[in-house]
Amino acid sequence: MEAVAIVLAAGAGLRLGIGEPKAFLALGDAPILVWAVRSALACPQVGALVVTVPLGFEEEARAALEALGGAVTVVTGGDTRQASVRAALAEVPLDVPFVLVHDAARPFASPDLFSRVLEAVDGDAGGALPILPMTDTVKQVVDGWVVATLARDELGLAQTPQAFRSDVLRESHDAVVSEELTDDAAVLERAGHRVRAIAGDLNNVKITTMLDLITARERVGGAGG
Ligand code: CTP
Ligand code: MG
Repeated sequence: MEAVAIVLAAGAGLRLGIGEPKAFLALGDAPILVWAVRSALACPQVGALVVTVPLGFEEEARAALEALGGAVTVVTGGDTRQASVRAALAEVPLDVPFVLVHDAARPFASPDLFSRVLEAVDGDAGGALPILPMTDTVKQVVDGWVVATLARDELGLAQTPQAFRSDVLRESHDAVVSEELTDDAAVLERAGHRVRAIAGDLNNVKITTMLDLITARERVGGAGG
């Protein structure tokens, strides 16, 4: 098996504010989580999946994912995203060379994006991620005052799925336990590893706010639409 995909769905969805974990909300014909898992399973290099869910949602997740087939392990996530990644990594067999990490909050990631980011982990890259260019002018603001205008062409927006050499990802998570980091590329960066940037996908939006959810539901139509 070339890669295991970790799909993170153990967040509470506080910014969405529905009072139910985001990944379990309906989007068209299926919960958001199922969309993310279907994409990962459709990537030919992915041999198995580990999915993190909030405590108490394990059986609901297993029931929803059973029909998809494939080797899917559901585990209880942690209090932070990084703790959830560590919980999932513990379920990944040591002999699998690559790990993909994907946020269930991005249900529209294509199987091709999983493949492309995985193929970008070559040479001295410990990992790779999709990046979208910035289109707005970017200001650094402190206490209500602009302190700098940043060079937009050197900045980008990070997406998932992100791909890593398994040993590098494990070693980085062991070395850097910093709960404010919001992606795994940042863990590698802190640990001193090189991370390659590939072209992100504008369709691969993240569902964070109610507006994001409404827009995603309009896009797919159907029951959750
Ligand atoms: N996640 C996770 N475990 C956590 C926190 C987050 O598995 N303890 C997952 C989420 O389920 C999500 C992804 O990490 O798919 C990105 O997190 P985010 O978009 O912040 O989702 P939530 O943490 O659920 O949302 P919020 O921060 O608004 O509460
Ligand atoms: Mg969060």
